[in-house]
Amino acid sequence: MRRLIPTAVALLLAGTALASDRPDPSELLPGGAATVRNTGDARAFSQGSGNLPYERLFTFRIGDGVFRKLWVSSPSSTTSSDGLGPLYNSRGCQSCHLRDGRGRPPEAGEAASSLLMRLSVPPTAPRPTEPTASTLPATPDPTYGLQLQTFGIQGHAAEGHVAVNWTEEAVPLAGGEVAHLRRPAWRIENWGYGPPGPGLMTSPRVAPPMIGLGLLELVPEADILAGADPDDRNHDGVSGRAARVWSGALGHAALGRFGWKALAPTLADQSADAFMADMGLSTPIHVAQGYGECTPAQTLCRAAPDGSPGPGKPEVEPRLFDLVVFYARNLGVPARAEPTPEVLRGRAIFRDIGCSACHRPSFTTGHADDRPELSGQRIWPYTDMLLHDMGESLADNRPEGAADGHEWRTAPLWGLGHTQAVSGHTELLHDGRARNALEAILWHGGEAQAARDRVVGLPPADRAALLAFLGSL
Ligand code: HEC
Ligand code: HEC
Repeated sequence: MRRLIPTAVALLLAGTALASDRPDPSELLPGGAATVRNTGDARAFSQGSGNLPYERLFTFRIGDGVFRKLWVSSPSSTTSSDGLGPLYNSRGCQSCHLRDGRGRPPEAGEAASSLLMRLSVPPTAPRPTEPTASTLPATPDPTYGLQLQTFGIQGHAAEGHVAVNWTEEAVPLAGGEVAHLRRPAWRIENWGYGPPGPGLMTSPRVAPPMIGLGLLELVPEADILAGADPDDRNHDGVSGRAARVWSGALGHAALGRFGWKALAPTLADQSADAFMADMGLSTPIHVAQGYGECTPAQTLCRAAPDGSPGPGKPEVEPRLFDLVVFYARNLGVPARAEPTPEVLRGRAIFRDIGCSACHRPSFTTGHADDRPELSGQRIWPYTDMLLHDMGESLADNRPEGAADGHEWRTAPLWGLGHTQAVSGHTELLHDGRARNALEAILWHGGEAQAARDRVVGLPPADRAALLAFLGSL
């Protein structure tokens, strides 16, 4: 297997990992030695790294319990589970990341349950090039902050509700086929605390799948930066920018990796932000924020009792917090089935039409002493971990962290074929607007416009092969 691994130099050129039409055998184990069994069912994303020794698998299971835990408001008799809210989106991690899979947009008349609405108002000062501890991801709405909390505990009004209307559009494809896209129009109803600030900007986000995240966290920063081409010096129309953001967990600026706009550099940062903003819980990273994401204007919320066990102690105690991070790091990527001839053809098309310019097939993880199972693994995530301008249709026109209003982080494609089995739907992209992989591709614009147009122009059998390849991941 070793001699098939391309040289480091070849790896620097995005896409070269797919250079041969014969797949590298390691592709079938996309998470390296941490790959898990392909159960082919709803449990596909919920297994601990395949190479975890027994005692660490046990820690993973306890972490799963914290991920599933439903928090309650304070004061309560169960002091270890209280502190929820006052304002929140969900009572537990698992409610959004159902079966560790992806969320979806709300249906007509339904409350958004696995989709978050981020908020901000136009910035008044430019963002510093080197973020510090006081650099906010965006300029908070004066009343509602950076996120719409759609629930409140007893006595606290929800901030509002998210609703969406769809407009259908037809997209003719080569060979006489026609695809249909649904274009969303998002709105917020029932504002609970008066009107929002002028120029309010919104950004809907579904919960992404949870697999392989600990591997992505361990990809060396230099290898990701090597793929960045912010000025498009190689003139392929694809630039790719690294997101430089503040890490509360590390205490310094670092490369953003997680979230649809690469706002969080580590899984500890992402988990702490989720506890704080989605559930109103303080953690070792946001010790003082027992009130969650309430702004100073929300005085009742700021004054409510919290679940902190004492001064300087977070509601989510360090032991529980570490367990959740351990869990998030070790959700394994399922093994791939032996490719069919059609899948192999789709793999070559994916490479030849320029998908791999952003969906970089492969990386090798670095080393972390506390994570031997995730260290030094050849992985196949199909992302370059960079920000790309994806054009007007996908733009949320809301800058966040290092990303501007047109940029999104290349979504990893591993596990794509399990979406239906795990999540019971196949809705893709940051707001779940695409109802399948073909629609997701047709929404690509900006730097990905040329690749998208090539898919439109493919003969139907080639398009089917490309989709078969995506379904095999
Ligand atoms: C209300 C729904 C919701 C809840 C509750 C929630 N998440 Fe998330 N999660 C999201 C969304 C939406 C994103 C994408 C955020 C973004 O784009 O910035 C996300 C992103 C993530 C990511 C990054 C995934 C990636 O591929 O980049 C991790 C890790 C994560 N959440 C962990 C957690 C943990 C741990 C908890 C519980 C403490 C939690 N989440 C609770 C909705 C939720
Ligand atoms: C310029 C970079 C770029 C190119 C080229 C590109 N993509 Fe993407 N892709 C992205 C980004 C960024 C996203 C996330 C966009 C969003 O959610 O709004 C994405 C999302 C996707 C998704 C949905 C993933 C999910 O989790 O929701 C699929 C499927 C996909 N791309 C397939 C392809 C295919 C196939 C091609 C080649 C035809 C391609 N992409 C070319 C950057 C790119």
